[in-house]
Amino acid sequence: MKKRVLVLTGGGDCPGLNAVIRAIVKRAAREDDWEVLGSIEAYNGLLRRPYEIVPLNETVTAGIHVKGGTIIGTTNKGNPLKFPVQQADGSWKEVDRSDEKLAALQDLHIDAVISIGGDGSQRISKALYEKGCPIVGVPKTIDNDLSATEMTFGFQTAVQIATEAVDHLVTTAESHSRVMILEVMGRDAGWIALNAAIAGGAEVCLIPEIPYDIDLVKQRVLERYKRRRGFANIVIAEGARAKDGEVVGQLMKEPGYEHIKLGGVGNELMHQLKRAGCDADMRVTILGHIQRGGTPIAFDRVLATQFGVKAFELVLEGKFGQMVSYQNCTITDVSLEAATAAYNFVDPHSYLVQTARGLGMSLGD
Ligand code: F6P
Repeated sequence: MKKRVLVLTGGGDCPGLNAVIRAIVKRAAREDDWEVLGSIEAYNGLLRRPYEIVPLNETVTAGIHVKGGTIIGTTNKGNPLKFPVQQADGSWKEVDRSDEKLAALQDLHIDAVISIGGDGSQRISKALYEKGCPIVGVPKTIDNDLSATEMTFGFQTAVQIATEAVDHLVTTAESHSRVMILEVMGRDAGWIALNAAIAGGAEVCLIPEIPYDIDLVKQRVLERYKRRRGFANIVIAEGARAKDGEVVGQLMKEPGYEHIKLGGVGNELMHQLKRAGCDADMRVTILGHIQRGGTPIAFDRVLATQFGVKAFELVLEGKFGQMVSYQNCTITDVSLEAATAAYNFVDPHSYLVQTARGLGMSLGD
């Protein structure tokens, strides 16, 4: 019987997930004694009866590297350590189903697991590894906020999409002499916003790492706007906040997934500017999940493919408890312990921030 590696994708989708899956399958096909399976919707495929486990081979994965999303599905609500189970009275309780998950791996004769996901997924992988699961992590997030890898796939695609949105807004801002505010994703990190603002040539960029002073933002906007046929473009990260303010979002309480859903800071900024006396004609665009969909750009396909090959090679070497990582333009691995220790935020003293300032862009401080 061949050895079996189980692949799963967890958390929000991200361009490049399918390229990782295809690379694992292609690399495994070069070994005579391995086969690849996929668990549907992260660990849920292992916890459901009958199991929702699918074979992944070169026929199934042919050409998927160009497709966004993930062919094996994903979920934010599939943490086996805190699994939402509905009680007889209708309420929900979080239950540790990790032993069931480990038993399912034995039952299915799985020799190794590759979990592709963001910080939440890597934390789950670490906990499962500590319980004896032979697991390897692959980092993914459009937010680029994982500290143990210099880049995650999906991020550059999100930046490209956000930059194209700035480009589109510039033409309408110019034609109508308007101030256009673009709200982009990124959670508590300003990577997408700052890169898109520089690439698109925005006048103002507001990021979570640098709380903004609304009067300074107003000043920069009006400077630009009051010129003849003036207009201005602002890129704001969803996690940005005013110096004396809070992040804008809603507490979402779904079974197994309680979190602050960020969103709305673009509109909040427009109201703050109006209250501060900015009389410009303003419009807000919230880019939303468009940033996570569609075809990964070439850079992300290449990075994702390298991650997939490396993940399978870690399995071959029996290097479990590790996460693949991009460092100094090459692919390496780090422990899941290190991978989950810290986040990667924009350094206000970095050259990227200095570049924005050097262009005359306001960061609201
Ligand atoms: O982490 C990726 C991300 O797209 C964030 O940028 C965003 O805040 C969040 O996920 C949105 O999550 P959901 O898809 O659950 O609305």
